Amino acid sequence: MELNGVAALVSGGASGLGEATVRELAAAGATVVIADLNAERGEALAKEVGGVFAATDVSDEEQVAAAVEAAVGTGRPLRVAVSCAGIGWATRTVDREGRPHDLASYRKVIDVNLIGTFNVVRLAAAAMAETEPVNDDGERGAIVNTASLAGIEGQIGQIAYSSSKGGIIGMTVPAARDLAAIGVRVNTVAPGILDTPIYGQGPESEAFKERLAAPVPFPKRLGTAAEFARLVRSLLEISYINAEVVRIDGGLRMQPK
Ligand SMILES: NC(=O)c1ccc[n+]([C@@H]2O[C@H](COP(=O)([O-])OP(=O)(O)OC[C@H]3O[C@@H](n4cnc5c(N)ncnc54)[C@H](O)[C@@H]3O)[C@@H](O)[C@H]2O)c1
Repeated sequence: MELNGVAALVSGGASGLGEATVRELAAAGATVVIADLNAERGEALAKEVGGVFAATDVSDEEQVAAAVEAAVGTGRPLRVAVSCAGIGWATRTVDREGRPHDLASYRKVIDVNLIGTFNVVRLAAAAMAETEPVNDDGERGAIVNTASLAGIEGQIGQIAYSSSKGGIIGMTVPAARDLAAIGVRVNTVAPGILDTPIYGQGPESEAFKERLAAPVPFPKRLGTAAEFARLVRSLLEISYINAEVVRIDGGLRMQPK
């Protein structure tokens, strides 16, 4: 699908993988709406790429509806939604002292990562349904969600995060089947370890990242946000890729810890 001239909504677009995606889509000629909690970074990036910032908590119905409205309000057809908003969490199901995982933090991670992603999918797709098809296939739009290797092979302490990402993987096929009726594709990216602000900055985090890269078969380094963004762009542009979960991980297979 051609990206030049469309409106694109990117959740979590103010940082890391989302930010790289915003830059990639803007470079392809899309008008990008950055839906993120972080107004300072989101507004600055929107200005830089000629896009729009929409202050959004993805788990909130009205705020996502407003972000979709902002995309429709650009005057370009909304044809792209990429969900990158997400939070991490590290707690064991039962900790070393025998205490169970608290439900509040489990719920919070599901709320942001899983329900937030579905919230963007359903509201963006409904707006895409209102547009005219863009090509002979009857295509109206394309959606990319961000899962994680943790959604396939979660590590110790990742129960909440893995559950949320496994849910995103699980919604890929039924969402693609539901939205086939309106000519909207749905694909999911499952990143391994990609270098973004979530790993911090400075000498300590550089040493940490080196340890993280050690088990990656090839290339023996962390992935980059730009590599992620190029993959997202391909999934959006190549119309025959649908209902797929694509790993981007240098061949990494996660160990228990
Ligand atoms: N970096 C990695 O190695 C890696 C690996 C696997 C999966 N992921 C996933 O990729 C996505 C992006 O991660 P990143 O590394 O770029 O992280 P990041 O922290 O750099 O960016 C996440 C962005 O999401 C925004 N955000 C958080 N909660 C939000 C909410 N409720 N509503 C709207 N925006 C919200 C943050 O403000 C931030 O701008 C996440 O879903 C993460 O789980 C990352």
